Amino acid sequence: MKRARVIGTGSYLPEKILNNFDLEKMVETTNDWIIARTGIEQRRIAADDENTSDLATRAAQRALEMAGVSAEEIDLIVMGTITGDYPWPATACIVQNNLGAKNAYAYDISAACSGFVYALSNAVDFLEAGRGKKALVIGSEILSRIIDWSDRNTCVLFGDGAGAVVLDLQEGDSGVLSSHMHSDGSYLELLYQPGFGTRHPASAEGIAEKMHTLKMQGNDVFKVAVRSLTEVSQEALTANGLSSADVDLFIPHQANRRILEATAKRLELTDEQCFINVHKYGNTSGATIPIGMDEANRQGLLKEGSLVLMAAFGGGFTWGSVLLRW
Ligand code: ACO
Repeated sequence: MKRARVIGTGSYLPEKILNNFDLEKMVETTNDWIIARTGIEQRRIAADDENTSDLATRAAQRALEMAGVSAEEIDLIVMGTITGDYPWPATACIVQNNLGAKNAYAYDISAACSGFVYALSNAVDFLEAGRGKKALVIGSEILSRIIDWSDRNTCVLFGDGAGAVVLDLQEGDSGVLSSHMHSDGSYLELLYQPGFGTRHPASAEGIAEKMHTLKMQGNDVFKVAVRSLTEVSQEALTANGLSSADVDLFIPHQANRRILEATAKRLELTDEQCFINVHKYGNTSGATIPIGMDEANRQGLLKEGSLVLMAAFGGGFTWGSVLLRW
């Protein structure tokens, strides 16, 4: 059977580090509070002249290099992002041009923190339907530009970054085994950006009210996130006749250490089975999972035959899991 297999990973994190002590000078918070409630120690912030497409392009170039694949060989580019260079057109088209991937068609997926797993699932379907041979899947975000830096409830949580994978349709047991995606729009206002879409077009009043920044009811998000991440992970394992003991590495969306620990506990996963890097980068939304995959891969944690479970949850609400054999 032919499966979509990851043959290259890449990531890019902006140079500038903003740590918790820097935040202590900006809002009423403490390093101790942030670490105790989130596990985050620092996050990366894009330079003024860096755009979401730039981060994505660098991550993609590293993934292509590892895969030994040229940009012209790519048939599809799908990118999960909620902080594109422009409201439209798709940032994936800018990346396509930057890479010189002239044979690919490209589009963005808006699924917030689930953007990468949604995009991955989409690209797998594309390849398995015989529509192409190779795909590039990217998660890239510059959340620092939609954060209200005077809101301590949100500004301590997020960061910027990008990750990418190259998928190739190959014969054999390795590759994506299944993906399960879900949404529930009734939770929209727990996590969203109120302006400036068609509902609240750009206006001076809107800017004064900071409608262009991310709004979140953290407590409520937390509870649904743990429940959904647990359920969608179990769904993936059950669908494949596997249990959490079979998982070699769980790479969850890195929102908050407490969410990850609560989810891992419910799934009966050990610390060794869980990949965590939220302390270094905070929540980079659609970029956390591909950054995690790239770090795990380059650290040698992913070996041929390893069972890798990914699960994400984010605004919408959206959530999903992808199970793959490395
Ligand atoms: N520093 C100090 N105090 C703070 C800060 C801060 N940065 N932020 C909030 N507080 C205060 C609150 O004002 C509140 O004070 P009060 O009791 O006087 O009103 C107190 O701390 C407790 O606030 P809670 O919101 O109850 O704190 P909680 O333990 O829930 O932690 C947090 C807040 C970290 C936001 C948590 O709810 C969370 O992580 N939620 C998930 C949100 C998330 O990760 N969203 C990302 C997108 S979705 C996703 O990726 C899964």
